[in-house]
Amino acid sequence: MSQVNIGIIGFGTVGAGTFEALNTNQELITNRVGAKVVVKKIADLDLETDRGIFVDPNIMTTNAMELIDDPEIDIIVELMGGLEKAEEFILKAIKNGKHVVTANKALLAEKGEKIYRAAIKYGINISFEASVGGGIPIIGALKDGLSANRIKTIIGILNGTSNYILTRMTNEGLPYEQVVQEAVKLGFAENPPTLDVNGTDAAHKLAIIVSIIFGAPVPFDQIYREGIDFITPDDIRFADEFGYNIKLLAIARDLGEGLEVRVHPAMISKHHILANVNDAYNAIFLEGDFVGPNLFYGLGAGKHPTGSAVVADIMNVARQIKLGAKNFTPPLAHAIQPKQNICIHSIDELTSAYYIRFSALDQPGVLSRISGILSKHDISISSVIQKGRQIDGSVSIVMLTHESREIQVQNALEEMKGMEILTKKPVMIRVEQQ
Ligand code: HSE
Repeated sequence: MSQVNIGIIGFGTVGAGTFEALNTNQELITNRVGAKVVVKKIADLDLETDRGIFVDPNIMTTNAMELIDDPEIDIIVELMGGLEKAEEFILKAIKNGKHVVTANKALLAEKGEKIYRAAIKYGINISFEASVGGGIPIIGALKDGLSANRIKTIIGILNGTSNYILTRMTNEGLPYEQVVQEAVKLGFAENPPTLDVNGTDAAHKLAIIVSIIFGAPVPFDQIYREGIDFITPDDIRFADEFGYNIKLLAIARDLGEGLEVRVHPAMISKHHILANVNDAYNAIFLEGDFVGPNLFYGLGAGKHPTGSAVVADIMNVARQIKLGAKNFTPPLAHAIQPKQNICIHSIDELTSAYYIRFSALDQPGVLSRISGILSKHDISISSVIQKGRQIDGSVSIVMLTHESREIQVQNALEEMKGMEILTKKPVMIRVEQQ
């Protein structure tokens, strides 16, 4: 029986989940791969913490280079996270001819190009199923099962923390700050959960998905991102009255001449399958020109789901090593690079329906002044709700618009800045009409 040796760099939650899956399902994995997958070494700066699993102390080290320079290790599994150091280790591993499995979404989304080039140059395999959607096999599906399709639309709920927060705000009518505090206390959110709630984490994952669909890294800075911290229980209630739920959506659309790639809170019809993806679950809805609609649903984080994805990648590479493969699928599963760079449209060019909530003085003429400015910017209103006086004497006026251009909505809101009839900055949420 042949053997494939791996070295794990980073032994936190995901590292421990990976080790556990390899041990628990060892026989099944050996049978499926046709070779034994052996963890030869694990590197982590912390050798003290009890991870709840037995690990032979002789395979533990604080020095990652011991793994990278070990000629007997075939696959380096990078689970340490972070940018600079992780990039350095991965590039060194590639140069040493080692295959790489990583869950590092931030690194791939922001600095993937250099890593992909190195992988191609040195003829090694780099796999990253665990970087998007935890245990959901979306990367494999896009690279293999759906590869005959032109993917026109992707709408994802890619951040479990924000989905958990929005779900509790929706079900319990609680304000954002209270839910975040409780989520941190219960261990459902990091402290502080900045990258989760400001859209960056979901944008990293969307960037990876889009790069596979189009065969080239996405210019990450051009992805529009907006977080969920401004959403109030009022907005969730009004959304409900209009028949919508509010979700943090990661959206990519192929417009033919460029792409829409954006992450922001959005209203989505309660009848849409994504509106009912709750708690910390992730989901990815996509449409391919031949396959039609597809939905992927599951846990986007956690020791076991993410460990499941990491081990799947390890097994896939181990199988190919065992079969004596000399060449591997390129990192983004495109043998030929696209002729043009990926062009991402500015958010200003978006056409969407909009929810706008104004807090305004309750006096004659207010509604007509607001609607006058909207009309001046060519924004057509489809529904209006006005709700009774709040403690400060202001009223909520909520409008849904017909499809409008983002730039026109932004210009109208800019023109309203400083208007004495408005008691607060208006809240604007895009309405996803898929
Ligand atoms: N922090 C991420 C989330 C999980 O909340 O979905 C890891 O990607």
